[in-house]
Amino acid sequence: MEYNNKQGSMLLMVVLMMMTMWSCGYSEAKLSRDFYSESCPSLFPAVRRVVQHAVAKERRMAASLLRLFFHDCFVNGCDGSILLDDTSSFVGEKTAGPNNNSVRGFEVIDRIKSKVERLCPGVVSCADILAITARDSVLLLGGPKWGVKLGRRDSTKASFSDANSGVIPPPTSTLNNLINRFKAKGLSTRDMVALSGAHTIGQARCVTFRNRIHNASNIDLSFALSRQMSCPAASGSGDNNEAALDPRSPGRFDLSYYKQLLKHRGLLTSDQVLFNGGSTDSLVVAYGYSLKAFYRDFVRAMIKMGDISPLTGSNGQIRNNCRRPN
Ligand code: HEM
Ligand SMILES: *[C@@H]1O[C@H](CO)[C@@H](O)[C@H](O)[C@H]1NC(C)=O
Ligand SMILES: *[C@@H]1O[C@H](CO)[C@@H](O)[C@H](O)[C@H]1NC(C)=O
Repeated sequence: MEYNNKQGSMLLMVVLMMMTMWSCGYSEAKLSRDFYSESCPSLFPAVRRVVQHAVAKERRMAASLLRLFFHDCFVNGCDGSILLDDTSSFVGEKTAGPNNNSVRGFEVIDRIKSKVERLCPGVVSCADILAITARDSVLLLGGPKWGVKLGRRDSTKASFSDANSGVIPPPTSTLNNLINRFKAKGLSTRDMVALSGAHTIGQARCVTFRNRIHNASNIDLSFALSRQMSCPAASGSGDNNEAALDPRSPGRFDLSYYKQLLKHRGLLTSDQVLFNGGSTDSLVVAYGYSLKAFYRDFVRAMIKMGDISPLTGSNGQIRNNCRRPN
């Protein structure tokens, strides 16, 4: 009898909690690690297998998938907006300056989404798939592991102009601009320096570093000369030629990016400004000498980045196809 009473009052509490959440419009809903544990228990292995396959085929894909999550989160929050193709009612983010001819990995996300839709139809958002995919990519290249928070929902629109507005800082950024752009998203200077460590993997195109390798004074000479061979000074020639962001180990998620900065071998201006006599020098030194410190701060910052303005509760939708609104 007493047992049943307890059950009864528990039920009442749950109902009251649900009513409170309802009246608050669900806007307080928080992301959680076990969001899909009942509704889609095989989500993690399903995602992991597709990412594994894609990365086995092309190691760089891990870098591209990690970057997709960053570019999604910085433009109106982690809402899957970067995945939307243009429609008759909006031009999306894919052709905006920071993304055009640059972001990649959409086909991998499509493959994950259709697999997940077969397993748990209408349950898992594209925004959450990006978060899980970023985590798996880092892990596959030997980086740290973390528990991803889930429960984001998908936007029904994307904005070309918002993606072009400078919220994603350009590779020519000063240190102050980087600090301010991250601060505007609730991320600290420490978060920014740790997240920049993502450039320990992947590639950049000549257009993004031409000026630095031909004109900068804070660059290692032999590094500059070797990069100039595949990225000529004349604009228009070799614009899309690629070079590794971390020349030492572009396929491993290690601390070598910071070690390279210490030697003035940062590829982008926005990389080298982190170690150029300014306030972030000490962080670059710390991460360059302690993998543990880098991993700890990177993980913390990735989770924080994943918390940027998610759509939750009854906001947004669970897209059937990541490329278009339902
Ligand atoms: C701090 C400000 C940042 C700037 C200015 C910046 C800029 C860039 C640029 C210009 C490229 C090369 C793009 C191209 O050649 O088309 C790039 C690549 C990349 N970025 Fe960043 N980035 C920043 C922060 C981040 C963050 C926070 C992450 C992820 C946590 C990230 C992950 C990557 C990865 C993995 C690549 C290589 C992608 C590939 O190989 O496909 N970046 N970034
Ligand atoms: C995107 O890149 C393509 C191919 O280089 C180019 O034709 C197009 O004009 C670019 N779009 C925008 C909006 O800049
Ligand atoms: C180097 O700097 C000069 C002067 O600002 C500029 O005119 C030139 O285009 C730059 N060269 C490259 C390759 O960016």
